[in-house]
Amino acid sequence: MDASAQTTAERLLGWYDAHFRRLPWRAAPGEPAPDPYRVWLSEVMLQQTTVAAVIPYFERFTKRWPTVAALAAAQEADVMSAWAGLGYYARARNLLACARAVAANGGVFPPTEAQLRALPGLGAYTAAAVAAIAFGQRAVVIDANVERVVARLSAIDVPLPAGRSAIRAAAEQITPADRPGDFAQAMMDLGASVCTVRNPRCLLCPLAQQCKGRDALERFPVKPAKKARPERKGEAYWIERDAMVWLVRRPGKGLLGGMRALPDDGWSSAEDGAGLPPLSDSWTPLGAVHHGFTHFTLHLSLLRHAGSDLPEAEGEWWPLDRLEEAGLPTLFAKAARLALADTKT
Ligand code: ADE
Repeated sequence: MDASAQTTAERLLGWYDAHFRRLPWRAAPGEPAPDPYRVWLSEVMLQQTTVAAVIPYFERFTKRWPTVAALAAAQEADVMSAWAGLGYYARARNLLACARAVAANGGVFPPTEAQLRALPGLGAYTAAAVAAIAFGQRAVVIDANVERVVARLSAIDVPLPAGRSAIRAAAEQITPADRPGDFAQAMMDLGASVCTVRNPRCLLCPLAQQCKGRDALERFPVKPAKKARPERKGEAYWIERDAMVWLVRRPGKGLLGGMRALPDDGWSSAEDGAGLPPLSDSWTPLGAVHHGFTHFTLHLSLLRHAGSDLPEAEGEWWPLDRLEEAGLPTLFAKAARLALADTKT
């Protein structure tokens, strides 16, 4: 066939035939479909867990409990301890509940996505994966790898999570009726080995020519916009005499706790600063510095004390020519630079 007339699925399956990973729960292309029990067990284990971590657990489980009926008859404590180390232990409890439901049903997994979805602990992903891989049903199987491949292939620029429906629609379009199980696993393998999160290997990709996102691959899938950080205002005070500046020590607890600082209006403990300079007479505005903390952005106005009275609170006079040694956190170092720049002009 003329290569350009091939569908996406045909190209991908051609690549899979040459490059598929041999994994203990898989049938190689052309072999009969694998045992649904093994497919289901592997897919549950592979949720949030890497292939490399799953392999030894899969081998141990299938040796000890070779059929779903055998697993259904196991003690919960034995299943839990065999699962130990794989994490997300609710999966192990659901595994046993599902095995018992299947065993009660003659020990046979139902073949359709909808029936599988009705079993305990089987979510949309697992039901689709088992339907496609074990039963050859045309089901759209989307895990995080497939999501990335499809978002890139179709340059889906709607940010997640809303973008998921466009990703599903695009995946649905390319899922073939023939070999849907191999197709699903080919997408997973492509995502794991070629269309990786970082440094994707487009030169090795069978779908590179038709990939709409190729020029800006790392943009996709588009992540949700970060929530805007709240803004807060405060004031800090520059009190200077005889080439020294008045520094305080911040309270041990709270933001920048225990660090040296310029005196301020208490912006860090109130919603907005109280705005009251600690000294009575005149103040000259020096401008503002802006600083991003994890949970908010601070706009800190700096005021120079132009009066003759002195602070009563605890603090120390610090020589301006040794200010670097004071260990001021970035916020106050920025404010100090602003004041010193003002002195020079
Ligand atoms: N991750 C989840 N399911 C998988 C599978 N069947 N093959 C490879 N990686 C997977």
